[in-house]
Amino acid sequence: MALLAPSILSSDFSNLSQQIRLVEMSGADWIHCDVMDGHFVPNITFGPIVIKAAKKCTKLPLDVHLMIENPDKYLEDFYNAGSNTITVHQETCPHLHRTISKIKELGAKAGVSVNPSTPLSTIEDIADEIDLLLIMSVNPGFGGQSFIKNSIKKIESAVKLRERIKADFLIEVDGGINKNTSKNILDAGCDVFVAGSSIFKTDNIAASVVELKKIINSN
Ligand code: DX5
Ligand code: ZN
Repeated sequence: MALLAPSILSSDFSNLSQQIRLVEMSGADWIHCDVMDGHFVPNITFGPIVIKAAKKCTKLPLDVHLMIENPDKYLEDFYNAGSNTITVHQETCPHLHRTISKIKELGAKAGVSVNPSTPLSTIEDIADEIDLLLIMSVNPGFGGQSFIKNSIKKIESAVKLRERIKADFLIEVDGGINKNTSKNILDAGCDVFVAGSSIFKTDNIAASVVELKKIINSN
């Protein structure tokens, strides 16, 4: 069964607790939290304080996506705030093995993300150490962008890599996921679907969760 992780980036932050409860009640599996620093990506969002607030609103795992430079400096803060999975970007970590080890030592699941222009070969040597591989299907920084079609090939390659090295990481895909794009992404082998605007920027948030869940569990 594939999982759905609504991204609160597109939610109404003046009503965050209600929005998180609504997606939880409608069948969401994880809550995806996009942390941006204005350096690695052009946008700035939020830090551990908001993660801590989100934690109080839900029993679902918090899936924290760090789009920040020097993430090592803040891993403990994000773990203490209630992150269940902490995902760092390959592009921000010169000592990726050390960073992954630190996340696991803290007690969180360790994820690594790759930008659309970053080949999977850059994470191959540490792929059997990670819990999650996050494939960016847009350039990180903003919600509401279009799915980059070449990401389908990358998802298929990630499935092959996982088989070849006998690893067990989940494959998560993030960016441009909606009711029109999700079936192909499912067929390519995605395990965890992140969706922001196709859930929170719709007239009926609950119905959008139900509809996406139906598509991603249609195999
Ligand atoms: C983009 C973020 C995404 C974003 C996806 O940098 O990592 O998680 O919320 O938004 P949509 O689903 O609107 O493309
Ligand atoms: Zn994200």
